[in-house]
Amino acid sequence: MSKNFDVLVIGGGPGGYVAAIRAAQLGFSVACCESNPYADPKGEPRLGGTCLNVGCIPSKALLRSSELFEEAEHSFAVHGISAKGVSMDVPTMVGRKNTIVTQLTSGIKGLFRKNKVTGLNGHGSFVGKEGGLYQVKVGSELVQAKHVIVATGSKPRHLPGIPVDNKVICDNEGALDFDSVPKRLGVIGAGVIGLELGSVWRRLGADVTILEAAPEFMAYADQDVAKEALKLFTKQGLKINVGVKIGKVTTGKKGVTVEYEGKDGAQKMECDKLIVSVGRIPNTDGLNAEAVGLKINERGQVEVDGHCKTNLENVWAVGDVVRGPMLAHKASEEGVMVAELIAGQAGHTNMETIPGVIYTHPEIAWVGKTEQQLKAEGVAYKPGKVPFMANGRALGHGDASGFVKVLADAKTDRILGVHIIGVNASELISEAVVAMEFAGASEDLGRICHAHPTLSEVVHEAALACDKRSLHF
Ligand code: FAD
Ligand code: NAI
Repeated sequence: MSKNFDVLVIGGGPGGYVAAIRAAQLGFSVACCESNPYADPKGEPRLGGTCLNVGCIPSKALLRSSELFEEAEHSFAVHGISAKGVSMDVPTMVGRKNTIVTQLTSGIKGLFRKNKVTGLNGHGSFVGKEGGLYQVKVGSELVQAKHVIVATGSKPRHLPGIPVDNKVICDNEGALDFDSVPKRLGVIGAGVIGLELGSVWRRLGADVTILEAAPEFMAYADQDVAKEALKLFTKQGLKINVGVKIGKVTTGKKGVTVEYEGKDGAQKMECDKLIVSVGRIPNTDGLNAEAVGLKINERGQVEVDGHCKTNLENVWAVGDVVRGPMLAHKASEEGVMVAELIAGQAGHTNMETIPGVIYTHPEIAWVGKTEQQLKAEGVAYKPGKVPFMANGRALGHGDASGFVKVLADAKTDRILGVHIIGVNASELISEAVVAMEFAGASEDLGRICHAHPTLSEVVHEAALACDKRSLHF
């Protein structure tokens, strides 16, 4: 006997579970299957995918703990607070992180119950199509559905000759679960994971060296921000080497040795633990896409159009398994869009206004175009850049590093990009996203009353600075 649904979602991450909830809200009978690599020690299935189990949420929990530790060690004294003998118990920190993960993943089970989404525990793979229904094997059961949403996410990319055991050589999973602070931590890849997790363990006392293949640091970011970030991270003690070619990696009693070609020729990095964070690859293994003729492109992604439609009628794909930035909020936006399109509504995801955030200290956040992109596209723009140093709230907070930069079209004044490096950049960027989503001009941002004293006043001032009329800088 098969189970029949209007919509079957394959994958229970932020793309899949959000799509399932929205489709159920719109009146469809919905199932969401999850192959469940993240079962808890009792074998209880966990929803939430990479984001909740081994990504966004656990990394931010560790970032917060390490931030507090570093502040207690180095920033309290200036306030007149003495905190002598501050120490870190890593298992307690990791335990707190695990509690948050359990709380949130079980929360999704509750949301499924509330919205009447059927959660199915098992790997989903296409079998065929009959009578207008797609047949998908979930574990040992056959499920049939008119619409299928593929939301199978991504997994870490590993490098040949560097075997990840998640004990000594780790990807993101192992790097979130160290049982003590490594004395020397090596990181391959100065991307988002390398910078965030490198920061966690550096704050706790590890000597961190990052080896990056690209010749430029953070080439994807606005280069003004990238330069400031490199300066600040280096001052904090992260040793970042760019333009590196990784050679032989060996493990022995003394830890890991990474041989590499750097700007000074052949070199060696020795470390106690190594994190390999060189990007992620889409999860299409075992989906049996061939059974229905689902098109997978040369990058291993499910091929989709702007509305996440695949080459097959009523088969959709969202999140990390398709083109675009691998971000949880992008996956969820696409999930909502697809559910609404299935319901005949006008679902839409604006890829131009998806914010990016790096949760280092200071935080880095951006939306829209970088200066180098606008130059390459020949777009005339007017920049407005204001440092946090000119802001009373940032000074009161005890960290006034970084700046806000607004890039507006020179002719129309429409905001084309906003780039922030500074305290709470992750929260400040939302105002820029709203402004851009409503096709706002820098003058609009400049005319909005911002509460005082707040960090958001720097966004206001940077918008004014586009027309050379900032008031406090
Ligand atoms: P996933 O979250 O990967 O979920 C896919 C799910 O599908 C998985 O649970 C998988 O088990 C399941 N699955 C796969 N194949 C099958 C199958 N055949 N049948 C059934 N189930 C299947 N993004 C942010 O926006 N902000 C952050 O701060 C952030 N931090 C991150 C930190 C780290 C360390 C990492 C690794 C990632 C981070 N990300 C962050 C990225 C974010 O986690 C992903 O973009 C997001 O999880 C993608 O959602 P998804 O639903 O597409 O895929
Ligand atoms: P990434 O794509 O951000 O960075 C990978 C880095 O590794 C790049 O700088 C790349 O040049 C480098 N690299 C690739 N091959 C290399 C090699 N052989 N030797 C040395 N360096 C090499 O990927 P990362 O950090 O693994 O993260 C994966 C994805 O997860 C991110 O792209 C992002 O989408 C998501 N993520 C998002 C976060 C956030 O939103 N705050 C946090 C963490 C991850």
